[in-house]
Amino acid sequence: MAKTILVTGAAGFIGSHVSQALTGRGDRVVGLDNLDPYYDPAIKRRNLAEVRAALPTGASFTVVQGDIRNRELVEALFARQRFDAIVHLAGLASVRYSIGRAARYNDVNVGGSIHLLDAAIKQGETGKSPNFIFASTSSVYGDTERIPFLENDPCDRPLAPYPASKRAVELLGYASHNAHGLDFTALRFFTVYGPRNRPDMMAHMLLDSVTKGRELELFAGGQLKRDWTYVDDIVQGVVAAVDRRLGYQTINLGRGEPVLLADFVEIAEKLAGGRASVRNTARPAADVEATFANIDRARELLGYAPSTSVAEGMGRVWEWYRGVYGP
Ligand SMILES: NC(=O)c1ccc[n+]([C@@H]2O[C@H](COP(=O)([O-])OP(=O)(O)OC[C@H]3O[C@@H](n4cnc5c(N)ncnc54)[C@H](O)[C@@H]3O)[C@@H](O)[C@H]2O)c1
Repeated sequence: MAKTILVTGAAGFIGSHVSQALTGRGDRVVGLDNLDPYYDPAIKRRNLAEVRAALPTGASFTVVQGDIRNRELVEALFARQRFDAIVHLAGLASVRYSIGRAARYNDVNVGGSIHLLDAAIKQGETGKSPNFIFASTSSVYGDTERIPFLENDPCDRPLAPYPASKRAVELLGYASHNAHGLDFTALRFFTVYGPRNRPDMMAHMLLDSVTKGRELELFAGGQLKRDWTYVDDIVQGVVAAVDRRLGYQTINLGRGEPVLLADFVEIAEKLAGGRASVRNTARPAADVEATFANIDRARELLGYAPSTSVAEGMGRVWEWYRGVYGP
């Protein structure tokens, strides 16, 4: 049966893909996004236009331009309709940018999430509460020594305000589950890339560097490893989580096959037919040496099966990038 789903951050990279997948299968999606200027809001408007252009006949996709920090606005949304699920993707991302901005990350990522949790709990007082799906991050693991990363690890030493804010919401999710029976699933995304990716992320900056000669900082001589995960695989995991009430869960969504940064650079250079303009710098203290997801729990609970290799995924990013930004 078709569901009514609130997608926060619907105009963003992952949010636009999630909205497209949910409306594509017939769900009614209400998007909430304030078009935050962290990167060009015109990109977010374009994302929304692409979702609208792909809507099947009769599909329902409404977008509210508003801020999750606005408690009244969030309450008004829930007063207007009941939600079967919330996919909460809105927030400030970026580990490095968060350093020195703890108050802002707390306001948006923690404060805004509390408004949504409270509204979900309130809905549950007069019927069923929505299934709450939260976009968490692999960076909650900090400098963990266990490789691959396992959900049971303590995650109590985040290396920057961003992962601290995400971990705080996971903990508040547990408290909401315990005290109010809210179904809450935190999905820990591992470096997501794909068409529409954020311009501040490596996949995008690399192509900018090769095609436009923009200088790119390369940490530790490219010897870091990242578990790059293609956006369609992430979306598959998110949609599966929407459809399952799991009580309280934290689940890694990665590919489970880390790739050396230097190899990632080479893949992009081959695709774009040039060399990236690279400045080698030391690894910042907030960046870990490797990310690597153990995805057994995702396979078991969500039927998650990532299928896109980095070579294939970057090929699709390059096709998209060329179409939008020229050769
Ligand atoms: N991209 C990744 O690799 C990655 C990895 C781990 C976790 N995440 C998380 O997934 C989510 C989506 O990430 P993304 O890469 O699509 O980022 P994004 O910046 O493209 O999307 C986030 C969206 O949230 C909106 N937003 C920001 N503040 C808001 C506010 N106060 N009120 C309403 N909307 C607000 C932004 O306008 C943006 O459209 C984020 O929560 C991010 O922390 C992403």
